[in-house]
Amino acid sequence: MAALARTGASDAVDGAVRVPGDKSISHRALMFSAFAAGTSRVRGILQSDDVHATARVLRALGWSVPEVAAQMTIAGGGLVSGLRAPRAGLDCGNSGTTTRLMAGVAAAQPFASTFEGDASLSRRPMRRVAAPLEAMGARVDFLEGRDGLPMTVHGGALRSVSWELPVASAQLKSAILLAGLCGGVSVRVREPAATRDHTERMLAARGVSVESVGGWVSLQPTDRLVARDVDVPGDPSSAAFFVARALLAGEGSLRVERVLHSPYRDGFLRVVQRMGARIDMHRDAGDAPDAPDALVDLVVHGGTRLRAVQVGRDDVTAMIDEIPMLAVLAARAEGTTEVRGAEELRVKESDRIAAVVSNLRAIGVTAHELPDGLVVEGTDAPLEGHVLAHADHRIAMAFGVLGATRDCRITLDDPACVSVSYPDFWAELQRVAR
Ligand code: S3P
Repeated sequence: MAALARTGASDAVDGAVRVPGDKSISHRALMFSAFAAGTSRVRGILQSDDVHATARVLRALGWSVPEVAAQMTIAGGGLVSGLRAPRAGLDCGNSGTTTRLMAGVAAAQPFASTFEGDASLSRRPMRRVAAPLEAMGARVDFLEGRDGLPMTVHGGALRSVSWELPVASAQLKSAILLAGLCGGVSVRVREPAATRDHTERMLAARGVSVESVGGWVSLQPTDRLVARDVDVPGDPSSAAFFVARALLAGEGSLRVERVLHSPYRDGFLRVVQRMGARIDMHRDAGDAPDAPDALVDLVVHGGTRLRAVQVGRDDVTAMIDEIPMLAVLAARAEGTTEVRGAEELRVKESDRIAAVVSNLRAIGVTAHELPDGLVVEGTDAPLEGHVLAHADHRIAMAFGVLGATRDCRITLDDPACVSVSYPDFWAELQRVAR
């Protein structure tokens, strides 16, 4: 159990923070460098448990991936050459992105791969990724009557597919695109709402024909991926915690540097601006990889009175991983905040709707669940109590941010779970307090 803060903790922030590399782009940088014909250099990759899981699974399938490090040189093995049936289950740890994207890859291999994970990942729905892969000709087995890991993908020759996804999910979209890529067949995917497009952009930059027209994303087969260097930009989902920390400060400002700015990932910034946040955005000199997406420095000013906000389905897709932080921020905003259209949060690393609401209540905030979201009443009262991370890095960090502010005395059961996406989080959180 860790005490995160004491009543009267610093009420000001100061200085700058550079958040680690984007998690989504880091997974894809490893995969696509491994699949390329040629050598790629990857700089600034996220060094965290989730990315280690992707490296481990690629190696187990026969790709040669060096140790995950700040600067990596990856000699691509091509799309298929030398691949082998894994000798044991593929340990995906806590990483849904590793599991779902690599399930697409495994569907095209002439052998069976069993995906395994920790308790949290094992509970997450996987039949949604199995269905399109089976429509393409793979067979996917689960334990009798279950959805979740372990899941065995029996790969083989695939046929093309045209698939309408029941939920907006970049992981599912990517699994289908990667099955098409590795299986050498064309695929089309339709999403109910447009999700992060890192797979499409990064494949296109490697010479793959990928198009997005009228809500359908389609990929044409190719037999080789061109190698390309990647400079991984800062993760906007990690940046959200420091944006929130600065907004909760009584005074000062914080610079959050070199953050990816993508229309599919900027929902949190848009929503906190509706709450009254003062954020200056400076375009960084560099460019995000493979994309006209910008790199930005954010200067976030403390001392602002935040107002409650209504968050709806239109906002949710572009801030899916930031909603726990937004909901915790709402505890310090004036009025009643409501989040709707976010039922997917129930099947993330934890049931994030239940986890956020029960934790807010445990520290004295009035909040309740909705089937597809939550309601939070803002308060100025001192907040005190013990919260549970539910083995979910983003729940831990969201309450950690609140716990670092004045008039909060919050303890957390499992601070170490942040290693999934942000191993240095606690040190950085402490450093920015003046
Ligand atoms: C991700 C997609 C999202 C997101 C996850 C990363 C990706 O998941 O929550 O953290 O890298 O494609 P879903 O596809 O399940 O929405």
